[in-house]
Amino acid sequence: MRKPMIAGNWKLHKTCSEALELVNELKNGVIDIRDVEIVVAPVYTTLSTVSAAIEGTNITLAAQNCYPEATGAFTGEVSPAMLADVGCRYVIIGHSERRQLLGESDEFINCKAHALAEADMGIILCIGETLEEREADQMLDILRRQVRLGLKGLDEAAMASLVIAYEPVWAIGTGKTATDEQAQEAHAFIRALIKEHYNQEIAAQTRILYGGSVKPGNVDALMTQPDVDGALVGGASLKAADFARIVAFEKQ
Ligand code: PGA
Repeated sequence: MRKPMIAGNWKLHKTCSEALELVNELKNGVIDIRDVEIVVAPVYTTLSTVSAAIEGTNITLAAQNCYPEATGAFTGEVSPAMLADVGCRYVIIGHSERRQLLGESDEFINCKAHALAEADMGIILCIGETLEEREADQMLDILRRQVRLGLKGLDEAAMASLVIAYEPVWAIGTGKTATDEQAQEAHAFIRALIKEHYNQEIAAQTRILYGGSVKPGNVDALMTQPDVDGALVGGASLKAADFARIVAFEKQ
C-alpha cells in the first residue's frame, strides 16, 4: 500500500517569523492525521526554525533544492548532508521553475538524485510537460525522457525513498488544473515507465504526486484517481487552513 503524501512547496515565501506562524497553525490543523505523510518545504533560511517547531509532530521537513556535492568550493550551494543535518528528510529536485529559470538539465538533476541517495535522503523528483509540448503531442516523449534521465543509474534501494511529482507546467500557479482524467493518464503512464525501468514491485510501491494548482476544492477528485498518491502544493500550502484541508482529503 502506498501511503499518501501531501507536500507543501513554500517556494520563495516566508521569513523566519512568518514561517513559524504558518507551521504552528498547520500543526494544530493536522494534529489528528496519521494516515498521510505531511511534508513542508520552506526556504533554506527558515529550515532550522521550522525543523525545531515540528519536532515530535506528524510533519516532515523537506528542502526545495540541493547541490550534488558534499562540500567544497561551490559558493552559495547547500549539500544533502547539510540539509539532513537540519532535519530534512526529503529534497525536491527537478522543479520546472528551476528547469526553466535556472536552466537545470535532466543530467544535473540526476546528479542531485545520486547525491541524495548517497546521503540516504528521500527524493521528490518533479517532471512535467509545458503547454507547448502538450499541444505538440509531445507529452509522453517528455515524460519518458525526464523519467529515463532523471532516474538513470539509481538502484532499487534509492527507489524505495523516491517520490515522483507530475506537475504539468501549464497548471503551476495558473489556476488551471489538469482534469482528473488527464492526471490519471499521466500517472498511469509514469508508473508503466517505472515498471519498464525496474519491475512491477517498484512500480507498485512508488508514490506519484500530482502538482499544479491543487486546492481544497479539487483535491478530493484528484485523490480518487487510482494512480494519484498525493499532491505537491504551492500556493495553497501558504495558508494553513487550506493546506490542512488538502491533507484531510476525502476520496469520492
Ligand atoms: P501551485 O504550485 O500549487 O501554486 O500551482 C505547485 C508547484 O509548483 O509545486
